[in-house]
Amino acid sequence: MKKFTETQLKLIKTLADGQCHNGNDLGALLKVSRTAIWKQITHLIELGLPIQALPQQGYRLTTPFLILEEETLRRELGCYDFLKPIHFHLFASIDSTNRFLKDYPRSPGLEVCCAELQTQGRGRFGRPWHSPFGENIYFSSRWHFDCDLSHLSGLSLVVSLAVLSTLAQFGIREQIRVKWPNDILWQDKKLCGTLIEIVAESNSSADVVIGVGINVNAISMTHLQIDRPTCSLYEITGKYFDRNSLIARLIIQLNELINEFMVQGFVAFMSKWHEVDYLKGQTITVKHPTGSITGIANGVDEKGQLLLVDAGGTCHALSSGDASLQRETVY
Ligand code: BTN
Repeated sequence: MKKFTETQLKLIKTLADGQCHNGNDLGALLKVSRTAIWKQITHLIELGLPIQALPQQGYRLTTPFLILEEETLRRELGCYDFLKPIHFHLFASIDSTNRFLKDYPRSPGLEVCCAELQTQGRGRFGRPWHSPFGENIYFSSRWHFDCDLSHLSGLSLVVSLAVLSTLAQFGIREQIRVKWPNDILWQDKKLCGTLIEIVAESNSSADVVIGVGINVNAISMTHLQIDRPTCSLYEITGKYFDRNSLIARLIIQLNELINEFMVQGFVAFMSKWHEVDYLKGQTITVKHPTGSITGIANGVDEKGQLLLVDAGGTCHALSSGDASLQRETVY
């Protein structure tokens, strides 16, 4: 688990203008020696920052890089009223933001953890989550619910819809679909995944970590050895995004939709889900802990369970599982 030092933060912010800065100037600005600057730059390059050292000239960022910053996140949140304090835990590098919040002591606030890099980013079913430095969003938030866990059925679908409305606020709507329960796809390629983990539960309360990974500024993801086709916001729009703005909007959307979900249940989200349902009408196979079922996906019920009609006409309501299209190749 690493945080940036004050000097590293200042260096990154100075280089953020994309210009070439020489070691002497940087040393004078940060009140350290040229050698100290060189050492810090080496650390940053090792972490994954796209810094080029130009002989006799200095250092410059080869691609834009806006660091995740509490000040910017708070500014982007504006005067949105959460009713409880938000605590940010920002890291240069961490094993997994979900793991951090699972182990974090219970608090009355909303705990949010984000990192520039995850060394052991986790996906559903124990899959690894590709988490290179600085390109994407690795976001986790910890929520306390005053209800029995059984009332939270449908929460993962609501989280997917919160991601969708966040993207919509940045103009990204076309061809975006949700694959039950929590994959966000663009043109059949995975853009975002969510991982919900239960931290504690009793009869009347539950603590849950909601993790979201969004591929943001990766120029191309086609070369990656990931088990399914993947894409990024940059590939969709050709634009570079400030992850701070996306994260702030995501926190607001999560809060809004979760509050609505707690009052009205998943039933309030069914029509929205049906508009963006990737699986509807498709022949799919769903793997679940005790086997697998193939059939035609027929939307979801008021608990967010996937309805799957098998060849014999029986309709199965599935509350969890790994769904794949019949034509999908998993390699
Ligand atoms: C999936 O699609 O399988 C879920 C991927 C979830 C990835 C996010 S990145 C932030 C948080 N920390 C993790 O280790 N995983 C989630």
